[in-house]
Amino acid sequence: MVSLMQTVQSLCEQFKVPGLHFEAGQGGLTKAVVATPVASGEIYLHGAHVTSWQPAGHEPVLWMSRSSLFQPGKPIRGGVPICFPWFGPNASDPSAPAHGFARTAMWEVAEARPTAEGGISMTLQTRIDPFAVRFTVEFGSVLRMTLATELATGVSTSHRFEDALHTYFSVSDVRNISITGLEQSRYIDKLDGAAEKPATGVAIEFIGETDRVYFDSDSECHLHDPGRKRTIAISTSGSQSTVVWNPWIAKSARMPDFGDHEWPEMVCIETANVGVNAVELAPKSIHSTTVVIRVQ
Ligand code: BG6
Repeated sequence: MVSLMQTVQSLCEQFKVPGLHFEAGQGGLTKAVVATPVASGEIYLHGAHVTSWQPAGHEPVLWMSRSSLFQPGKPIRGGVPICFPWFGPNASDPSAPAHGFARTAMWEVAEARPTAEGGISMTLQTRIDPFAVRFTVEFGSVLRMTLATELATGVSTSHRFEDALHTYFSVSDVRNISITGLEQSRYIDKLDGAAEKPATGVAIEFIGETDRVYFDSDSECHLHDPGRKRTIAISTSGSQSTVVWNPWIAKSARMPDFGDHEWPEMVCIETANVGVNAVELAPKSIHSTTVVIRVQ
């Protein structure tokens, strides 16, 4: 694969953009490092995995586990894993990796350029048959991420996929935050036998393990964190589902790449198309799933 052969040095020569360089990251995996006056950030070629974003004047927005693996074939824990072309366990093959192949695939850098406001935009691409996928991330005063999926050349029938930009947010304490914007959406409760539950009409607060897939949730969400004195706005397009997850105590202890005591520090709000919102993709069409994250 091309990206395995791309050395850090040749990437630096190929993509000469002020404020961007490539280096060997944890586990010897190649990462791009963004350091500009408007924002800093990092993305690994392994999984096209964004592991940090910090807009100027604010604390880091994304959470990373200190127990994360950085190994070929293993997902990174934290940041923004890309779940694709399925979400969760594979419906027909229990031996297939959870959340699909994208987060452990090697991606290649297709483009890197400065943005008008002085940040950096990068596009990484890979092929996961029968799909060709491009992931564009703009590290700026906002973090804009788009997963664009089309059928690979020569594929002439429609194919269905699920996707999720599985964003881990850093919070002061998950027990003291709330999420608004999903009050009117029904959801699947994965902790209650995947039962469908009606819209609650109230903000989400966390008093235990939480694993919910909200459907038809195309509005903007807000993550309110009084401990950090900040609200994070999460606006999406091309996404009909939102997954909200915190593993709490027992599940954290079961996950080898997640510290036993890290669960209060994070919450996942995932921009997704899953289950009844899976995308049926016709030849010659492109589906773009976009999230824009802004600190307020
Ligand atoms: C969430 C799922 O999106 O991801 C949870 O809803 C799952 O059920 C979590 O536990 C983490 O998944 P993984 O495969 O990264 O451990």
